[in-house]
Amino acid sequence: MYLCLCKGITDSDIREAGRAGIVMPCQLKEKFGLKDPGCCGRCSKNIQEFAQIAMSVDQTPSPNSVRS
Ligand code: FES
Repeated sequence: MYLCLCKGITDSDIREAGRAGIVMPCQLKEKFGLKDPGCCGRCSKNIQEFAQIAMSVDQTPSPNSVRS
């Protein structure tokens, strides 16, 4: 699902950022260039929602995901 049409950011992009530890609104704005000229600013209003999505991912790798 697209969360930002200007940048083509999807919810899975936000989750991926969350897994990389990028969870704060300012970090997300920086990573996805949401302060750049040309952005409409619409999704910046929902940045808290982005942060919640990013924080909802489990950042600690599960033991089951480790492959030898
Ligand atoms: S919808 Fe994200 S900057 Fe326009």
